[in-house]
Amino acid sequence: MNPVEVAHFLPDTEATEVLGRALAATRPARAVVHLQGDLGAGKSTLARAMLRALGVTGAIRSPTYTLVERYPLADGSEALHLDLYRIADAGELEFLGLDGTDAALWLIEWAERGGALLPGPDVQIVLELDQSGRNVELSAFTETGRLWCKAIVQEWPVARDSSVHLGGS
Ligand SMILES: Nc1ncnc2c1ncn2[C@@H]1O[C@H](COP(=O)(O)OP(=O)(O)O)[C@@H](O)[C@H]1O
Ligand SMILES: [Mg+2]
Repeated sequence: MNPVEVAHFLPDTEATEVLGRALAATRPARAVVHLQGDLGAGKSTLARAMLRALGVTGAIRSPTYTLVERYPLADGSEALHLDLYRIADAGELEFLGLDGTDAALWLIEWAERGGALLPGPDVQIVLELDQSGRNVELSAFTETGRLWCKAIVQEWPVARDSSVHLGGS
């Protein structure tokens, strides 16, 4: 249904950050990203690298306790970084003031805990520990996401140089 478009091995933290920069460089005007994987898989590392590449200069805190952090972007739009690991039930989301939020970029860790109150993903990124590195898989859920995954293959050197584009045409 939502085939994996891109899959690759990320040998170290820097490799995760390179992917984050490639995602930022190819980002569509509006995008929702769901980041999946166990604690320590590298979800925040990837989100932080994207936000940095988008020009966020101050501290980028993990929203572990605040659940959401908001970042103004240079073009006047807004990026949101959510981490719902500590949410007790999806109803708590109502208190975050996200209703009517029109962010250009949503980066959501533990989106599965937010249920239907969250926007669905354009791209889902799954990170998984593999020895000392991580495996990453990108899946597209919308046409925007599918085009984004295609663009990533062009922008992300390791992807361009190897046969990681699994999706059709
Ligand atoms: N590809 C990778 N290989 C090895 N370590 C990584 C990789 N990507 C990230 N890390 C490391 O994993 C640790 C946990 O990352 P973090 O982003 O906080 O995980 P999460 O948000 O998924 O809980 C960090 O110390 C980070 O440097
Ligand atoms: Mg995290």
